[in-house]
Amino acid sequence: GHHVSSQRMRSRRRELRTRHDITSFAPQFISIYESLTPSEGEKEKQKQLLQSLEKLIIKEWPNAQLHLYGSCANSFGASSCDIDVCLAISDGEIDKSKILLRLAEILQSDNLQDVQALTRARVPIVKLKDPATGISCDICINNILAVVNTKLLRNYSQIDHRLRQLVIIVKHWAKSRGVNDTYQGTLSSYAYVLMCIHFLQLRRPAILPCLQEMQPTYMVTVDGIECAFFDQVQKLQHFGSVNRESIAELLWAFFSYWAYHHDYANDVISVRTGGIISKQSKDWTRRIGNDRHLICIEDPFELSHDLGRVVDKFTIKILREEFERAAEIMQYDPNPSVRLFEPY
Ligand code: GTP
Ligand code: MG
Repeated sequence: GHHVSSQRMRSRRRELRTRHDITSFAPQFISIYESLTPSEGEKEKQKQLLQSLEKLIIKEWPNAQLHLYGSCANSFGASSCDIDVCLAISDGEIDKSKILLRLAEILQSDNLQDVQALTRARVPIVKLKDPATGISCDICINNILAVVNTKLLRNYSQIDHRLRQLVIIVKHWAKSRGVNDTYQGTLSSYAYVLMCIHFLQLRRPAILPCLQEMQPTYMVTVDGIECAFFDQVQKLQHFGSVNRESIAELLWAFFSYWAYHHDYANDVISVRTGGIISKQSKDWTRRIGNDRHLICIEDPFELSHDLGRVVDKFTIKILREEFERAAEIMQYDPNPSVRLFEPY
């Protein structure tokens, strides 16, 4: 279970690990990272599936477009991950359920497997599996904000390669430890990515800039929300290079931030501003409905949206114990790259 035997860990304590010591573990973390990233072959298969879906869909809705979003498009996907697709249709007033049901029909008659329309879900989708590649896919309709936030995440990953390493390892940790499941009251992958970007924005020297605070080169309005940020990231290739911290150091500091330094009572992390803002300023100081705001992660575009809203008084304890366990392992364990990912 989630219980951490801190007594035992403490008795094994020797000296504090230094920055230099921890960096000797970097190659191990890098090889874990490499074993988790998808191969070119997998990427190619995903592209093929998208193209064949496009062909089917254009026949029925000539003006529609398909966009990839989520981990298959934001560069933070591990291998054999499912793909998230957004069908963009702008036919004035549309009936999403009707479109999803028609879409399911079309896909079924094209011999795709396990086709299922979930019209009542929070985000209504059609699920399917491609028998040729074994890839599963969710298709939603007009979720353009997700396509735009996927672009923001991908643009951040193009600035410094340590972001991708950090996210893929943190997601692997969260999945291994059972704290990456919004249905169980823990955090989404999207929330973990925002935590990692925020963390690298606050390193000194900074490893990532704040793209939404720079002169915008990309602007769209989606559902009444203005999304604007600097997206010419090829100009920021050297932004983080003054900071020489290794992936091992960053992991160690990331977990220790969430274990010991984050002010859960007062602070909201905000990728949009590149810093910390107060719960007070967002009026997130008390529970409203089901939003408890026990760990606050501001969505970069939907500003009223706290990605920590799913966390309750039980799961906040589980999360914080897991951050502490991870921080202790990074600090003291003789074999951190093994213990960190032990199944819970
Ligand atoms: P894995 O599937 O776990 O590898 O990660 P993922 O990157 O696909 O993340 P997740 O399944 O959590 O979310 C998929 C995408 O949906 C994200 O990249 C976001 O674009 C979008 N998304 C997820 N949750 C939210 C949310 O609460 N608010 C908004 N605006 N978008 C979200
Ligand atoms: Mg996903």
